[in-house]
Amino acid sequence: MKHLISCDQFKKDDLLSLFELTDKIKKNPLAYSEALKNKVIATLFYEPSTRTRLSFSAAIVRLGASLISTENANENSSANKGETLEDTIRIVQGYADAIVLRHPDDDAAMRAAQVATVPILNAGSGGKEHPSQGLLDVYTMNEYKKRMNNLKIAVIGDLKYGRTIHSMLKLLTLFDGIEVHALSVKELELPDEFNQIFKDRNVKYMKHTSMDTLPKNSDIIYQTRIQKERLKNEGINAATASFIINKKLLDTFSADTYLMHPLPRIEEVTTDLDNDPRAVFFPQAHNGMYIRMALLHQCFYGKEK
Ligand code: CP
Repeated sequence: MKHLISCDQFKKDDLLSLFELTDKIKKNPLAYSEALKNKVIATLFYEPSTRTRLSFSAAIVRLGASLISTENANENSSANKGETLEDTIRIVQGYADAIVLRHPDDDAAMRAAQVATVPILNAGSGGKEHPSQGLLDVYTMNEYKKRMNNLKIAVIGDLKYGRTIHSMLKLLTLFDGIEVHALSVKELELPDEFNQIFKDRNVKYMKHTSMDTLPKNSDIIYQTRIQKERLKNEGINAATASFIINKKLLDTFSADTYLMHPLPRIEEVTTDLDNDPRAVFFPQAHNGMYIRMALLHQCFYGKEK
């Protein structure tokens, strides 16, 4: 893997080998503690982040590499003086062996890759893609459901700007027998490109306007917050565009319907269900570190034979 830009670059086999490596790392992380010794990896974050930045940072440190980092890069890097992203990449690649990039522009990771001589790992680009999150999401689904084929998933919230949803669906629908139930306000439906993706992959796709019609035997409920920082002229209010899940509502679903969320949550998942074994969003976030360790490992060593 030269760059990690989009989930479009993955085939089913790539996921299987990445997940196999992730399992090995998760079982015995110490066995990989010197895997990237003498490497230097940079993280450039032009948008706020807790999970992605810190789990990539932890992954870098746990693989024995050194970390150089700019948090809040719009303010704290020379972007604040007008330096372009391309020039920043041209400079940082002279200091680091790989660059992890989060940026508000949809095409930022691609632009960075076009000028980079070291691997670029997309840690979230605009409202379009968040591939490492999509990978950890599908990994987590497999961990809990013990399969990736024949999953029925309900995706809820901001399906238009929810980049985690876009990346996750591009990966999950590589598998067979996937059924997608989408619940959002009209203004925040999935982008049109998914109509073609679902058609090409024989995905059963249904839109919903209420929690009541979602299948009670869904395997996964994937809830998201409204990305109010990305809303443009939709003319909607983030609070009223949310569909809230609480313990009472989760209890109307099957005993093996797992509730996932990329986090952060705002009001769309209430805290009364945090101790329900079906609420797996915290372990989901923790899987992010292991997936990112595996991604970085593959970045330098390729897929294991
Ligand atoms: N899920 C996710 O991307 O969270 P952060 O914005 O905290 O990194």
